[in-house]
Amino acid sequence: HFHPFIPAGGVGSRLWPLSRADAPKFLLDLTGSGSSLLRATYDRLAGLSAAGVMVVTGRTHAAAVCAQLPELSGRDLVLEPSPKDSAAAIGLACMLIQRRDPEAIIGSFAADHVIEPAGAFQEVVREAVAAAATGRIVTIGIPPTSPATGFGYIRAGAALGLPDAPHAVQVEEFVEKPDEETARAYVAGGDYTWNAGMFVAPASLMLRHLAASEPELYAGLTEIVEAWGTLAQDEVVDRVWPGLPKTAIDYAVAEPAAAAGDVAMVPATFTWDDVGDFAAISRLNRVDPESDSDVAVLGRNSRVLADSSTGIVVSDTGRLIALIGVQDIVVVDTPDALLVTTREHAQRVKDAVNSLKLSG
Ligand code: GDD
Ligand code: MG
Repeated sequence: HFHPFIPAGGVGSRLWPLSRADAPKFLLDLTGSGSSLLRATYDRLAGLSAAGVMVVTGRTHAAAVCAQLPELSGRDLVLEPSPKDSAAAIGLACMLIQRRDPEAIIGSFAADHVIEPAGAFQEVVREAVAAAATGRIVTIGIPPTSPATGFGYIRAGAALGLPDAPHAVQVEEFVEKPDEETARAYVAGGDYTWNAGMFVAPASLMLRHLAASEPELYAGLTEIVEAWGTLAQDEVVDRVWPGLPKTAIDYAVAEPAAAAGDVAMVPATFTWDDVGDFAAISRLNRVDPESDSDVAVLGRNSRVLADSSTGIVVSDTGRLIALIGVQDIVVVDTPDALLVTTREHAQRVKDAVNSLKLSG
């Protein structure tokens, strides 16, 4: 059976001050649809499996996740004491699911993407599940539009000729977050797709690769899962979790599994956006047709008057914001922090946030 789950962690510091430690990117509505990215991810998956959708997230996010997903059962909400990156979260989910269903095909779906339309996404996932059932870790490939360095790159090989997964191809190589020069060469060469941040695979195969590449992480998670659901659970989690190695699933499993010939890829037929920065927010939020300006506005109560201005306004306050004669401006207004920058410099928000943290 197919068991989808969502690892939901990280902050998304490129979207500060919209995203915060207590309001990470996946809990935000970045499209003006009324649903957070997590809620939309959950809804896209809900119809695909009778087994339900598991969510792995930080303890500090438990209340917000439950409020957004009231139908989530206690069994499907898995809480981490602290962020240990995606390998720990995904490894834990694979082990808990495998305990319920030793033959499980798992699907790990990133919490923080905008995907349209849901129907095309579900078709691709069904194909990925069929390909995974032949004993492969299946990724989903996105045609690259720039030499972005924040993604994994997948080099596609020959078609696998699987009857139930006609578009599945062998993956020759998986490279997580290459440097810019390498990414340029990959995009120019035309053989690479971006990794969509989703993995569909037999739980046993994911765990076999995790055990081989991260034995310490595997052993710690095994100890936790043995105690899961018993009276010792909290004691064991609190003791073992802090010492787990912190690494991403892309390094721990995708790269070595591809080198071993165990990875396949199904190309996406849907549009995909990882909403990594304010430029993405402006892409996803239309410019107000009433105004004579070219300002993309996001925010439920936003009141923005723009005259001869271009840029992006994100308002979390309902405060009246007036722009007059400013070009390519980025304004993000929240109750306790205000960001003013330009499109050109918005990429530096992440560094600014990190240095603020350093100085307390
Ligand atoms: N529970 C939990 N705990 N989830 C986490 C943690 C954690 O400590 N850290 C990350 N995650 C979740 C994120 O919420 C997201 O759903 C998924 O794991 C991927 O982590 P990101 O931190 O967002 O990874 P990335 O964006 O740098 O890279 C991944 O996604 C790209 C596409 O957006 C990789 O898979 C790349 O190869 C891929 O191209
Ligand atoms: Mg991400």
